[in-house]
Amino acid sequence: MLYIKNAAQVATISGGSHAPKTGIEMERLNIIENGGVVVDGERIVFVGADQEAVEYVSRHGGEDVNVILAEGKTVTPGLIDPHTHVVFAGSREHELTLRLRGATYMEILQAGGGILNSTNKTRAASEAQLIGETRKRLDRFLAHGVTTIEAKSGYGLRLADELKQLRAARFLHDEHPVDLVSTFMGAHAVPPEYKSDPDAFVTILTEEMIPAVAKEGLAEYCDVFCEEGVFTPKQSRTILEAGLKWGLKPKIHADEIVPYGGAELAAEIGAVSAEHLLRASDAGIRAMAEKGVIAVLLPGTAFFLMTKPADARKMIEAGVPVALSTDRNPGSSPTESLLFMMNLACLTMRMTPAEALTACTINAAHAIGRADRIGSIEAGKQADLVIFDAPNIEYMQYHYAVNLTETVIKNGIPVIVNGQRNYA
Ligand code: NIG
Ligand code: FE
Repeated sequence: MLYIKNAAQVATISGGSHAPKTGIEMERLNIIENGGVVVDGERIVFVGADQEAVEYVSRHGGEDVNVILAEGKTVTPGLIDPHTHVVFAGSREHELTLRLRGATYMEILQAGGGILNSTNKTRAASEAQLIGETRKRLDRFLAHGVTTIEAKSGYGLRLADELKQLRAARFLHDEHPVDLVSTFMGAHAVPPEYKSDPDAFVTILTEEMIPAVAKEGLAEYCDVFCEEGVFTPKQSRTILEAGLKWGLKPKIHADEIVPYGGAELAAEIGAVSAEHLLRASDAGIRAMAEKGVIAVLLPGTAFFLMTKPADARKMIEAGVPVALSTDRNPGSSPTESLLFMMNLACLTMRMTPAEALTACTINAAHAIGRADRIGSIEAGKQADLVIFDAPNIEYMQYHYAVNLTETVIKNGIPVIVNGQRNYA
C-alpha cells in the first residue's frame, strides 16, 4: 500500500469521467485541502481528508505501507498529453534560425523541409534507432509529470515507414512507464513522390495504409493535416471516413495556419477532437460545441511559431470542451513540458490555472478515450499521480517555466522520486 500523506491540496478533478468538462465546470477541480491519497496495487483506493486517510490505512494497511509525505505540496492526476508526434528521428534546430530570418513554417515545408525533412530522417532510421530516440523523450515527459500520451505517426508517409513508427510506439508503450495511445497520421504531408498527384496519395492512404494499420491493430485514431497546401477538407473527409470504416476514430489538425473549414468538418463527421484551431471560425466553434468535439489547443506551437494562439476563451464560453497538449514534434513544438504549456495557456490564452489543469487531465483523457481509467483522482481509477512542489494549483502556473514535478506515481509505482528517476 502507498499513502500520500497530508498534501496541502489534492486536486481530484472528479466528476468528469462520463463526459468532458465544459464552461464553468472546467473550473471545478474538487480540491481537498490537507488531503490524503491511498493506493493499493495499481489502483487508487481512497482519496479524502488526511485524517480519514490515516484511519483507512490503519484499518486496511497492515505493516507494509509506503508513506510519502506531501506537506506543503499539491497532488494532481498524472498529466495526459493528447497530441504528440513523438516518434521521429533527428531534429530541426536550423529551422528556428530560418524562421527568425523571415521564412514561414509553410514556406519551409513547401521547399521540401519541415515535415519532409523529418520524413527523410525517419525513413532512414531503423526501428531500434527510432525507439532509442523516442525513449529519451518519454523519459523527459515522465520527469515533467506526464504519464500518458497520444502518439501520431506521419513521418514515414509510406506504408513500411508508417508501420515502423507505429510499431516503435507500441514497443515503447509496453516497455516504458509512460503509456502511449497511437494515432495513424499518414496524412501529415504529401510526400515528394506524389507532389504532382496528391489524390493518388489519398488513394494509397485509404486503400493501402489504413487497412494495413487497422489489420495489425496498430492505431486507435486517424488524423489528417487539413490545411491549405496540404490536404483539402474534401480529401481530409475521404481519409477520415476511410479510417472510420476500419475502426479508427477521427481526429483532425484543423485551421492551424488559415481558416479552412476544419472545425466545421470535425463537427460534421463527429470527430473526437479537432486540434490547433488557431484560425477556427465562429461557426466552426459553435458546431464543435453542439457536437461535443474536444478542442485540443497547443499554445506551445503558437509560441514557438511566434503567432497568435487559439481563442481559448471564446471556445470555453461557447461550451467547447478544451484540452491542452505539447504537440511534441521536431518542427513546431520541440518540448516535453506540458506544465509549461499550461503556463502558456494561462499567460497567452487567458485560461485560468484551474481550467488549464482540467485541460491536461480529465479533458485530455476524454480526447484519447481513457477517461474511465485516468484523468482524475477517484477511488477505483488507475494510480497515476503527481506531487508538485507547489502549495496550491495556482502556484503551478505562477512559478512559471520551471519543472515543479517532484514525485510521479505510475500504475501505483513511484517512478520519479524527489525529482530523480526511479525506474530501470
Ligand atoms: O502539429 N501541423 C502539422 N504537424 C505538426 C508539426 C510537425 C512538424 O513540423 O514536424 C504540428 O504542429
Ligand atoms: Fe500536431
